[in-house]
Amino acid sequence: MTKQEKSIHSRFEVIKGMEDFVGENIYTLLKPVNESWQPSDFLPDMTAENWREQINEFRQRAEALPDDLLVVLIGDMVTEEALPTYQTFLNRLDGVKDETGASNSPWAQWSRGWTSEENRHGDLLNKYLYLTGKVDMRAVETTIHHLIRNGFDTQTGSDPYLGFVYTSFQERATKVSHTNVAKLAKKAGDDRLQKICGLIAGDEARHEKAYRLFMQKVFDTDPEEAVLSFEKMMKIKITMPAHLMDDGKNKNLFTNFSNVAQRIEVYTTKDYAEIISDLVSGWNIGNLKGLSDIAAKAQDYLCNLSERYLKVAKRLSFAGPAEKFSWIFDREV
Ligand SMILES: [Fe+2]
Ligand SMILES: [Fe+2]
Repeated sequence: MTKQEKSIHSRFEVIKGMEDFVGENIYTLLKPVNESWQPSDFLPDMTAENWREQINEFRQRAEALPDDLLVVLIGDMVTEEALPTYQTFLNRLDGVKDETGASNSPWAQWSRGWTSEENRHGDLLNKYLYLTGKVDMRAVETTIHHLIRNGFDTQTGSDPYLGFVYTSFQERATKVSHTNVAKLAKKAGDDRLQKICGLIAGDEARHEKAYRLFMQKVFDTDPEEAVLSFEKMMKIKITMPAHLMDDGKNKNLFTNFSNVAQRIEVYTTKDYAEIISDLVSGWNIGNLKGLSDIAAKAQDYLCNLSERYLKVAKRLSFAGPAEKFSWIFDREV
């Protein structure tokens, strides 16, 4: 057995060894269905007698949303709508994958439970945006179509350690993004959108907690490989799940979208740096003991990484020229 094979083999065993823990905690990490919110709780009731008034009132509230906020919200919705890609990712991870599609293993229950909670995010944002009447839905749907066809490569392969570092980071990133959109929605006068994004952010926060806890277990059992994996993932960098988005027109769509998100401070390089420092302190990286030389180097690298990004963040500017977005009928943002 090569060294690499041995390491993969033991990772599989560490993950398998966590099954009881996942099974015992699954319903604090996921919400029972009968206690869960559903998209229709926050949308006009089309079966009500006064559905016309409900829609009018809904649209009035959304009236003042500025184009930059709309673009970021659409990008976030497109990201959520590529959920099939993310479930596929979870099912690639060694020890985590759902072997039958309806397996009773705790990991398989987790990944299906996670997916079903996430599924509401894209549903709700999609319907919200449709009802505002402010969006070229065909252009947005075309973008989702392309994105799911294009997929995305987390560069974690089937490695569950890399996978859980990725998901810990990414759930927090989406939490930050939805929380900031909620604040801007309030400022623009749409308290319903504020509520919607706040709820979604709450789910992301719970999911973040779960993935961080899974990774904490890995750190407890296998600190050496865990810290090396964290370092590896940070060197690869966290690829945004929607970076292959495409509306069939604009080759720079993702870059343009993320520049707007930086500009209105929904998700920035500073946020990226803060997520790193939060994970580093949360997993207590600075105090890991008994590491080999190479793992101690990784520890050092990780403890200084956030500072490096913060320095970069200070130098960056996103004040480039306005770009057209097909999503909002080619208006410039
Ligand atoms: Fe989500
Ligand atoms: Fe999420």
